[in-house]
Amino acid sequence: MKGVLLAGGTGSRLYPLTRITNKHLLPIYDRPMVQWAIEAVVSAGIQDIMLVTGGTHAGEFLRLLGNGHEFGIERLSYAYQERPGGIAEALGLAERFCDGEPVLVMLADNVVERSIRPMVEAFQARPEGARVLLTPVEEPEHLRHLGVPELDEAGRVVRIVEKPEDPPSHFGVTGIYCYDAGVFDVIKVLEPSGRGELEITDVNNHYVAQGSMRYDVLEGFWGDAGESIDAYYSVNDFVRAYGANKA
Ligand code: DAU
Repeated sequence: MKGVLLAGGTGSRLYPLTRITNKHLLPIYDRPMVQWAIEAVVSAGIQDIMLVTGGTHAGEFLRLLGNGHEFGIERLSYAYQERPGGIAEALGLAERFCDGEPVLVMLADNVVERSIRPMVEAFQARPEGARVLLTPVEEPEHLRHLGVPELDEAGRVVRIVEKPEDPPSHFGVTGIYCYDAGVFDVIKVLEPSGRGELEITDVNNHYVAQGSMRYDVLEGFWGDAGESIDAYYSVNDFVRAYGANKA
């Protein structure tokens, strides 16, 4: 199974910090943000990884990560996204790299307290369709910034709504996804959303419609350090106090 880390985008919610660097290079406690996502993917047993980034600070990733060996990566590849055309567009750049294998995708601004290995192993046991990781979220105001699943009585995902006005459940979709190799065909037929991006939620809804979307509920803390400046500091405080990616 391959791993794809997405570290492009504009980081506009963290302006002006992100005028001078890429969001995923900002510190979370004692290391650049992207390193926490790398640790999550590597400790899930994936060592063949592609990092997708863009913008004016892309070269800094090479300086930080090099060939990846220091971080437990066997083979580290890079792709450059010409413009921030969305998460699904960024993933589409990894098609040849994935070469028909299933893929774990992680947004490089996501930080988790507990290992994502159980989710990856559950997908590997049956590597078809898609698998997402949900996190319980109480506050509707927070859910309005996330993808939110609607679940039926049996607990199956009926659809996922991106940044809903009226959240249909108390779960957020984290930026951690497993897909079979068919994901790249899905991306090719996507239409840009209202904000002009190819949305990962549209990819996920494709799998929901096919009846091949599964999910796990994450235990422990989850944070999106790029969501707002306050979220950035909450993630910093959490990681400083308790660490991340624990078994
Ligand atoms: O963090 C979880 C949330 O991430 C999910 O609940 C949402 O369903 C999902 O759409 C996403 O929402 P965000 O609003 O947080 O997405 P954002 O535009 O901030 O992009 C997240 C990451 O994806 C970012 O760290 C870098 C990468 N990215 C984003 C875009 C738009 C790229 O690599 N290229 C891009 O063009």
